[in-house]
Amino acid sequence: MCGIVGYIGNQKASRLLVNGLKRMEYRGYDSAGIAFLENGILNIMKKQGKVDGLDTLVPHDLISTNIGIAHTRWATHGFPNDNNAHPHTDNSGNISVVHNGIIENYTSIRTKLIKDGYKFSTDTDTEVLAIFIGALYEKVKNLEEAVRMALSEVDGTYGIAVLSSYEPDKIIAARMGSPMVLGIGDNEFIIASDAAAIISHTNRAIYLNDGEMAIVTREGYVTKTVQNENTNTAVEDIELDLEQIEKGGYDHFMLKEIFEQPETVRNALRGRLLVEKGNVRLGGLNAVIDKLRTAKRIVITACGTSWHAALVAEYMIEQLAQIPVEVEYASEFRYRNPIITPDDVIFAISQSGETADTLAAVKEARQKGATVLGFVNVVGSSIARETEAGIYLHAGPEIGVASTKAFTSQLTVMSLVALMMGRMRNLSQLDGKRIASEIAALPEKIEKVLESTKLIREIAHEYVNSKNFLYLGRGYNFPLALEGALKLKEISYIHAEGYPAAEMKHGPIALIDENMPVVFIATQDEIYDKVLSNMEEVRARKGRIIAIANEGDERIHVHADHVIYIPQTLPMLNPILAVVPLQLIAYYIALELECNVDQPRNLAKSVTVE
Ligand code: F6R
Repeated sequence: MCGIVGYIGNQKASRLLVNGLKRMEYRGYDSAGIAFLENGILNIMKKQGKVDGLDTLVPHDLISTNIGIAHTRWATHGFPNDNNAHPHTDNSGNISVVHNGIIENYTSIRTKLIKDGYKFSTDTDTEVLAIFIGALYEKVKNLEEAVRMALSEVDGTYGIAVLSSYEPDKIIAARMGSPMVLGIGDNEFIIASDAAAIISHTNRAIYLNDGEMAIVTREGYVTKTVQNENTNTAVEDIELDLEQIEKGGYDHFMLKEIFEQPETVRNALRGRLLVEKGNVRLGGLNAVIDKLRTAKRIVITACGTSWHAALVAEYMIEQLAQIPVEVEYASEFRYRNPIITPDDVIFAISQSGETADTLAAVKEARQKGATVLGFVNVVGSSIARETEAGIYLHAGPEIGVASTKAFTSQLTVMSLVALMMGRMRNLSQLDGKRIASEIAALPEKIEKVLESTKLIREIAHEYVNSKNFLYLGRGYNFPLALEGALKLKEISYIHAEGYPAAEMKHGPIALIDENMPVVFIATQDEIYDKVLSNMEEVRARKGRIIAIANEGDERIHVHADHVIYIPQTLPMLNPILAVVPLQLIAYYIALELECNVDQPRNLAKSVTVE
């Protein structure tokens, strides 16, 4: 995820800023840049790749300035390259901006600015903000006011820092939904999006609130709302050490990423859901909208957890859009010479966008003349480049090897695609509205699921010595059974299998005895009663049952040893909620077994080999 650091004080700034960026490297990024004032002139240096690359580029020994801002970028709009790297400047070249977050209405602001004669040279939403601030500065000749005016017109999320040669002894920072901290040292101030960049200087800091700005000069600082009311936000002591900060106070990245899911799902939805119209806006698919309208068949290809997301997507699209969908392991697709025609639309789902098998499947499908779309998390990754169009997940970097937040973002994005394709066909506006408002409610419902973490940990503790696990579910919950089993085996090394619950009697039932925990995903849908019967078959053989059920379901207690409740939602959205307890069960079992949760043995985050 992007990182911001800014410095104003007595020390030489350039090396200090680059070191601040290095402290935030753990967050993941694709390019880095710095803006500083030297003899009243604004200088910008930026580079795709590692902070070390920027470090080499910056002639620290020749720079004496003690004011500057810097950034590591995780691309959201436009490929990761030198040009799209931050800082961005206004048209005069006198105002520079670094930005974390997403400006949702950047297209409309950009269109207006172009009409007024402003020129754009990058694909980013941040440049729009920089040029917008510059345009307003021309009118009001006051940096603080120009920033305030721009921010009052912006929709979306931001953490920003602004540096300008017009008012050379000042940095302005602001926050809306993306963290900003102002570190208060001895005659120096450090602004950062992450306390990790501050604690080597000071442990006294102000955490800006949403809608709040800090105007920082050498003499001091003021905090204000974007509406220009003073806030006098209190100074706090940062009590975490560097390692704790990197993991957001969690013990592992995996746990941090599980807990990020309300926010990452919110980010996957940002600016895309049109609840009132019962529809969605997916700009990334505009170029292929006719293809999607006339597609005779969708084939989804992916690997691992992303393949499980594809299975859920199959059910979603077939239900809402009534188009036949097939799901293929990318590793099979690439070699078995599948029948693909130019009328087919191929979806490739991938967190990393670099999985070798998925990439090869994409190339194979293109070779056969199909329209190929990418649903990836990493902007500018190989699959993003090789596909004709697509949608980014906006889940931010996933560092834990076991995929968690990317999966819920994949499902969220797929629910949007299914809704859009349904509305192109027979889905009524009324039904679309009902589905859209349920999708909109997901982030809060995930928060609710996370409230059961203590209970889930206790349940996990009871089964920590089990040698095998079975995961069962039907309909939308069948792929989830596969995902629950995968999560457990990959991080705890316990053997686990997922099955469609009804398949159990065709073989796996032979495994069931009092030593076999069986996790049932038993949410309420048309086949709920049948799932209860499957549970009885397990109980009759003394299997121990952990059930994931919808709130209000009291019947389930008769059938299960443990019940974990998730809020009610539509059956198609249940997997987005029900996977969270599955992730937590796997995490807490692996934790008790002292496994390396973030770096399980034999696994890599990105499988770039066959
Ligand atoms: C499991 C996991 C893997 C990935 C798979 C595909 O937790 O992370 O199964 O899902 O390697 O990776 P991407 O989505 O990057 O293509």
